[in-house]
Amino acid sequence: MTSLITHHQTLSLLPLRWKHGRWLGSRDSGYFLSFADAWRGMFKHDAGRTRTILVPDFYCPETLALYKNYGRLAFYQTNNDLTINIPSYLAALHKYRPEVIINYGFLSSPFQDARVKSRLKHLPEVMVIEDCAHRILLEKDLIFAHKNHVYIDSIRKQTSLLGSHLFGQSRIIQAKSFERLNWYKVKSLCLKLLQEGLNISTYLLQSRWLHEKSEDCFEWLDNLIGANQEPTQGGFLSRLLWNHLDLRKILVHKKDLIGIYYSRLTRIKSSNFLIPPVPDSNLSYFPCVVSPLIRDNLIDYLETRNIWIGPLWDLSEDSPAGLNQNLFDAVVVLPLTWETTVHDAERVCQEIELYFNSLNGVNHAP
Ligand SMILES: Cc1ncc(COP(=O)(O)O)c(C=O)c1O
Repeated sequence: MTSLITHHQTLSLLPLRWKHGRWLGSRDSGYFLSFADAWRGMFKHDAGRTRTILVPDFYCPETLALYKNYGRLAFYQTNNDLTINIPSYLAALHKYRPEVIINYGFLSSPFQDARVKSRLKHLPEVMVIEDCAHRILLEKDLIFAHKNHVYIDSIRKQTSLLGSHLFGQSRIIQAKSFERLNWYKVKSLCLKLLQEGLNISTYLLQSRWLHEKSEDCFEWLDNLIGANQEPTQGGFLSRLLWNHLDLRKILVHKKDLIGIYYSRLTRIKSSNFLIPPVPDSNLSYFPCVVSPLIRDNLIDYLETRNIWIGPLWDLSEDSPAGLNQNLFDAVVVLPLTWETTVHDAERVCQEIELYFNSLNGVNHAP
């Protein structure tokens, strides 16, 4: 029986360093239970006002549902290779004159583009939020266009810790907007503990059944996180642990895995498969763009080989119009966790190669 390859992360296996990491520790930040909590806290005193919120057209649907309660959504485009379409971003800025902008791209933020940077510098009243949910936010990333520019991460996407940092000087961030302790926090922490137990057991016993229970637990937690109306602060222990994680080691490990995925998967020549230009090692998952005609078939095939990957986001019937449906149907993500070994990454590539060989009639998938 081959070992299970999944996106799950086990806290107890993460590399620690005793000396304070100082990645972000030297900066003063707010620390909340989730990205959604940070958002709710920022807009708590002004929740009723209708504003235009500019967002990418390939984005987390649950988070869009949250934003919709605070204003009307306008979109800028994501290209088919997951890069941001900068002309469409600049045109949307001009057309919609948004009060809030979410800067996000799966591979990199639009803010890394010089034209966007210089444009935003001239819009000091616009609230600009760098959504860093899918990267490990580093000290060097904190470059601000103006005083209403903030950075928010979501560390549960990088590790098995629950929490979100918020960096920025905006006056709308007020400590009194956040609760310290409530039922929502207690329930979230209990579910997190349960999930940790299931993940350790799955890791030790390599049990599919335990893996499925861990998936269920992840779903419960996912549904709970951010759904609470009262914005809540993050836990002291997870903040402390984050500052003592060896993030340098984690990033080097991701870089090694990305190198393997990239060099092997770009060799697959199929009009049904595209590997986007992966810029660096700071990603939470490795993306592949697969034709929607075969995507689910590929996912099912890999599952029979004990490889549990999946789409990044699923759209539901009530998702807002204007999203890039094609990308939602096409993107699958491969694991980049601390537990994913080099051998695992090679096995994933080998199975994907076998799958495409069988499609092309070169070979038969076993
Ligand atoms: C891009 C992006 N931003 C924000 C969020 C919300 O993060 P959280 O779950 O910490 O509220 C998510 C959640 O999946 C996401 O994918």
